[in-house]
Amino acid sequence: MQGRVVAAGGRSEERPSRQINVILRSSEPPVISQTLPDAEPAAISKNAGQHQGVFAEIQKELDQLIGLENIKELVFEIFALLQVKQLRTEAGLLAGSQVYHMIYKGNPGTGKTTVARIVAKMFQKMGVLSKGHFIEAERADLVGEYIGHTAQKTRELVKKALGGILFIDEAYSLARGGEKDFGKEAIDTLVKAMEDYKDQFILILAGYSDEMEFFLHTNPGLPSRFPIQINFPDYSIDQLIQISESMVKERDYILMPQAILKLRQHLAAEKNESPHAFSNGRYVRNIIERSIRHQAVRLLNQYSSGSPGKLELMTIRTEDFKFDKNSNK
Ligand SMILES: Nc1ncnc2c1ncn2[C@@H]1O[C@H](COP(=O)(O)OP(=O)(O)OP(=O)(O)O)[C@@H](O)[C@H]1O
Ligand SMILES: [Mg+2]
Repeated sequence: MQGRVVAAGGRSEERPSRQINVILRSSEPPVISQTLPDAEPAAISKNAGQHQGVFAEIQKELDQLIGLENIKELVFEIFALLQVKQLRTEAGLLAGSQVYHMIYKGNPGTGKTTVARIVAKMFQKMGVLSKGHFIEAERADLVGEYIGHTAQKTRELVKKALGGILFIDEAYSLARGGEKDFGKEAIDTLVKAMEDYKDQFILILAGYSDEMEFFLHTNPGLPSRFPIQINFPDYSIDQLIQISESMVKERDYILMPQAILKLRQHLAAEKNESPHAFSNGRYVRNIIERSIRHQAVRLLNQYSSGSPGKLELMTIRTEDFKFDKNSNK
């Protein structure tokens, strides 16, 4: 599916009756046009309308993210599936159950946690998850210190996540220690919990691409249990600059053009120097927050008497970006 979003909200009067139109946001023609023999359009459009509202909200959040087109598309696919499933149920058709456990592969700071939170909200609002809460965990939250401890810890974590999303970062670290490591017990317990609490929680495992590939192959039961696998690519320099601009805008600041240039050069050098350790959006966020602190100090020094005007309070200048080697990781 190329475009995204959904049944046309305020245009129902244009629709032929007894039809559901799922309309792509781009200029493409409608992709689904299905005649439902007996259902009343009014009843259908009520639910559909509610869900459109949900997607509009989710889409607003997704739109604030730079790039990630493949992910935005996939989220729409999931939304469309849930929406159509609901409509099929209402029309008395079969609506089979789907597995939504996911693997997110990507380097640090590529938006995995941010996207998982948005996805959690969508599942909750669409009625797939009863609570939609989001639990972020890592190896230490699952793995215990003695035999039996790990299974217990992992089960407790899963219980806390019921009705929501359990997001395990750096999941590959569970497989790192091999057969004797308690990490294996955590994996086995998770796999069992996915059966025991089917449809009651969604598990998202995240980590670097290569390591996640390795992880998936450590247990033959794993790949098929995670039908949705998403790659989070590294951001280009242009995208990193766009992310910086959206971060400063969000905080009511502006970047001077020369400051953007300095930032661009720094990002290019940094990305080039350590392509695997570069932490993408997080790196940029740290730099922006640091520049905001430097701007505050500069303004206080500069305006020891009197106060800066509104524009000055908003402006990040070249000198507010101070790049020293170890401060921004
Ligand atoms: N596409 C994007 N647009 C705007 N901001 C982004 C984008 N991707 C990431 N960010 C920002 O970068 C920061 C890090 O993102 P996030 O925590 O989601 O990354 P992550 O992939 O979970 O990282 P890690 O693997 O290290 O946990 C956040 O402040 C987030 O808002
Ligand atoms: Mg994260």
